[in-house]
Amino acid sequence: MRGKIIRLYKKADKKGFALGAFNFSTNEILKGIIFAAKKLKAPIIISTSEGERNFFGCEESVAVYNAIRKKYPHVILHADHTKSFKELKKIIDAGYPSVHFDGSKLSFRHNVRETKRAADYAHSKNVFIEGELGGITGGSTTHKERLKDVLTEDILTKPEQAKEFVELTGVDSLAISIGNAHGIWKDKPKLDFERLKDIKKRTGKFLVLHGGSGISAKDFRKSISLGINKININTELRVAYAHSLLKSLNKREDYTPYHYLKDVSAAISKVVEEKIIIFKADKKI
Ligand code: 13P
Repeated sequence: MRGKIIRLYKKADKKGFALGAFNFSTNEILKGIIFAAKKLKAPIIISTSEGERNFFGCEESVAVYNAIRKKYPHVILHADHTKSFKELKKIIDAGYPSVHFDGSKLSFRHNVRETKRAADYAHSKNVFIEGELGGITGGSTTHKERLKDVLTEDILTKPEQAKEFVELTGVDSLAISIGNAHGIWKDKPKLDFERLKDIKKRTGKFLVLHGGSGISAKDFRKSISLGINKININTELRVAYAHSLLKSLNKREDYTPYHYLKDVSAAISKVVEEKIIIFKADKKI
């Protein structure tokens, strides 16, 4: 599977689009994501954070993914932010074809050591692996603060370290910190495009932008033109889910889940469709 995934990232890099990676924790979210991808003929990544896969079930995620692939093969299941070798091994052994190892809270030396261990294991199982260097602040929710008040310069990815990191670890792609953060903040993130350009030039790697919620279409397009190949979206889906569910439960006295959850899937699809178009990932299968 790793070879196939690498070919897809190469295609995105060459044709100037980004793969959208959308998080899910329930089946109606998944349905909404897949509906949008099919409609727009887009390759797509479906992701689970640790909390999400604990809720959905690790084996269950793989089983549902395998069922989806039979009808729509342009989907990749990805494990977001695994933070220990034990967790990574559990996920790979369950059948995830793509994983993210997040050692960003460790010192550079420890991050290199743990990520290399993770990459060696992933590659021995033919699994694609994303590493992370630099810190990505916040969780996938709405925040009361302004990002500019909490984001500090020292967590941004250093281009010269990024080169060393990818060479020493052998990761297939790299998640970077260039002013992005998880969640929706009071202000818009201010991305450091010069840093992005420098990281791409020095590493030549596939690059990943976490914290996609709240970033403008203009900034997404510019990031893609400078070498971002995958963009993660979660909070905007969570907000769409909750608003749609509240609205449809208030609207009617109908307690049939597959009626009101249909609206939820449609709300998710709407967000995913908008992003696919911004990422220029439509008509790419
Ligand atoms: P957002 O919650 O900001 O969309 O970020 C998602 C993400 O990066 C998942 O890893």
